Amino acid sequence: MKTYTYPKNVETMTRAGKVIPAGVYGHLGPGEGCMIPSSAYPFFVSRAKGSEMWDVDGNRFIDFMCGYGPNVTGYCDDDIDNAAMKQIKIGNCTSLPSYIMVDFAELLTATVKKDWAFFCKNGGDVTTFAVMIARYFTGKKKIIFVNNYYHGVAPWTQKPDSPGTLPEDCMNSLYVNWNDIDGLKKVIAENDDIACFISTPYMHGNFVDNELPADGYWQEVRKLCTENNIVLIVDDIRAGFRLSLQGSDNYFGFEADLICFCKALANGYNVSALCGKEFLKSAAASVPYTGSYWMSAVPFAAGIANINKLIQGNACAHFKEMGERLESNLMKTAKELNVPLVFSGPPALFYMRIKDKQDNFLLHQEWVAECVRRGVFVTNHHNHFLNLSMTKELIDEATTICSEAMEVVVKNHPELFK
Ligand SMILES: Cc1ncc(COP(=O)(O)O)c(C=O)c1O
Repeated sequence: MKTYTYPKNVETMTRAGKVIPAGVYGHLGPGEGCMIPSSAYPFFVSRAKGSEMWDVDGNRFIDFMCGYGPNVTGYCDDDIDNAAMKQIKIGNCTSLPSYIMVDFAELLTATVKKDWAFFCKNGGDVTTFAVMIARYFTGKKKIIFVNNYYHGVAPWTQKPDSPGTLPEDCMNSLYVNWNDIDGLKKVIAENDDIACFISTPYMHGNFVDNELPADGYWQEVRKLCTENNIVLIVDDIRAGFRLSLQGSDNYFGFEADLICFCKALANGYNVSALCGKEFLKSAAASVPYTGSYWMSAVPFAAGIANINKLIQGNACAHFKEMGERLESNLMKTAKELNVPLVFSGPPALFYMRIKDKQDNFLLHQEWVAECVRRGVFVTNHHNHFLNLSMTKELIDEATTICSEAMEVVVKNHPELFK
C-alpha cells in the first residue's frame, strides 16, 4: 500500500507559522505533541464529504475523528446544509433573534428531557455558564472535578501552574477520582462550600483507557449531590448524542441538574447549549451571560435539521454497530499478529491502544502514524467518533489499512510480538 507524503501541507504550515501562533493551535495542530512523528500527519484539509476528508496534497482519509466530534451526520450533509442555506438567505445575525431559536429550544428540550435550553457557541461557554449558575444558585464557591477531566480552557478549568492563569483560579477546585464514591464522600464531608460537581458521563480522559461508570455510581453521585445541595453538572460535550439522543444522563439512568452539549448539536454549525431543570431556570436568567453570535439563526436551523435526522436515522444504534464492527475486525487482526490491542469506552466513541510491555505509548504512536500515512485518520491520545454516513464498506476498508499498519509495526519490532 502506498504511503502518503505531504509537501503542500508542510508548505502551508510554514506559512501558517508566520502569521498564526503555533501555526495550528490546540488539539487540531501538532503543537500539543499528539501528532508524532509529525511527518506522518497532514495539517490542512481541502475538502470533506461524509466520513472522508482530503488534505491539501489530495490525500484521502477515512476520518474517525469527525472534526473531534461535530461531524455527526456526515461532512457536508445535504439535508443540514440545505436547512442552513435556506436560513442564510433570510437572516442570520440580526438585531432580534429569529423565532427559530425558540423552535430549536423546544426540539432540544423535548429530545434531551430538560426544561430549558440556553445557547452559546463553544463547549467552554456552556461549562463556564453551568458553574456560574451553580455558584449563584447555591451561594457556594467550590467545584468538584474528576481527575483527568477536560471542560474547556477557561481559567477555572485549568490546572495550577497553567500558563496565563493565576493560582487563585484553582483555589476553589477540589478533585476526586473517577468511580470513587468513597473519595467523593470524603471531599464532601471535608468541605462545606461546594457549589457543584462537574463530570463527563464516563471517563474519556486522553492518553488513557476510557472507563465506564461502575454499577450504581451515578445513582450514588446523584443522591450525594441532592443531599448536600450540590448542583450536578454533566459535561456531555463530547459524548452527547452519540450514546443516546436523550442525553448521556438518561443513558446511564440518572438525571443531571445541568447538562452541557456542543459538538454533535448541529453537524459542525457553531452552537452549544446548556440544558437544565426548572429549579435552575431563574438563576440562569439572572446571571449576565451572552455573546455577539450566540443567537445567530443559521446554526439553529442546522441544529433542527441535524436532530431530526439523527432521530430518523436511529443514529446511536448506527454508531454502536459501526464501532463494534471496527472493534471486532481489528481485534481479529491483533489476535492473529499477537498484538496486545485494547479497546475501551463505548463502541460509539471507541478508544483503542496497543499496550506495549513498558506501557510507554511508543508502539501505539507508531501504529497510529502508520494508519494515518495509509489513509485512516485516527489519533493516539483521544477517543474516536462515528457518524451517520459511515458504512460497513468504509469500516472494512479502514480495517484493511489499519491491519497493514499493524503488520508494519510487528515487522519493525519482531521481538515484542512473539
Ligand atoms: C468533554 C469536553 N468538555 C468541554 C470541551 C470544550 O469544548 P470547546 O472546545 O468547544 O470549548 C470539550 C472539547 O473537546 C470536551 O471534550
